[in-house]
Amino acid sequence: MRRLVLASSNAGKLREFRQMLAPLGIEVVPQSALCVPEADEPHDTFIENALAKARHASGRSGLPAFADDSGICVDALNGAPGVLSARYAGEPPAGLPAAREDQDRRNNEKLVSALRGKDDRRAHYYCVIVLVRHAEDPEPLIAEGRWHGKLIATPRGANGFGYDPYFLLPDLGKTAAELAPEEKNAISHRGRALAQLVAQLRVMGNAE
Ligand code: IMP
Repeated sequence: MRRLVLASSNAGKLREFRQMLAPLGIEVVPQSALCVPEADEPHDTFIENALAKARHASGRSGLPAFADDSGICVDALNGAPGVLSARYAGEPPAGLPAAREDQDRRNNEKLVSALRGKDDRRAHYYCVIVLVRHAEDPEPLIAEGRWHGKLIATPRGANGFGYDPYFLLPDLGKTAAELAPEEKNAISHRGRALAQLVAQLRVMGNAE
């Protein structure tokens, strides 16, 4: 398994995945480079969405493929926004391009208002990565990571994206947006899931 298709066109994710998989001799190719369109994410769970994306990319490219799916789950909201994290505040107004900063701002406004007056501020980011060797693979590799924190009402920090300025890490006394990118990658939900995937691939490599 020397070439792996990444079922995402997110440049940040591509860079991160490339860095961690290069030492294993794995070349990561974004699905857009193979003209594979984005798959739908219609499911209620992260794992189902990641599996659907990975199968889609593998089926279209004829290569092994992997996909991640992630979001933030808030205890006091029964796990919402969960799989809807990217579009929690709804789709952008028709005809307007979906500027990520604008979407992030609207999502955060909605989250702050949903938690107003609530004492329980616990939340965690979740990430799952699914890798299939072929589109019908009955044994996908599955790796996951969780990152626990608390949501604050006033944003802090300018790094990261999404909900990061509101996601406080009590042990560090910083929000995720106050961490340098490499600090975040070392402990984040995505970093942990990726480290778990790398460990699984190493075991498979040794067994070959
Ligand atoms: P996706 O898995 O890239 O589609 O991410 C889903 C959504 O979850 C993003 O659009 C963000 O709203 C949120 N999210 C996932 N990971 C992070 C993170 O590391 N920081 C902030 N928000 C995140």
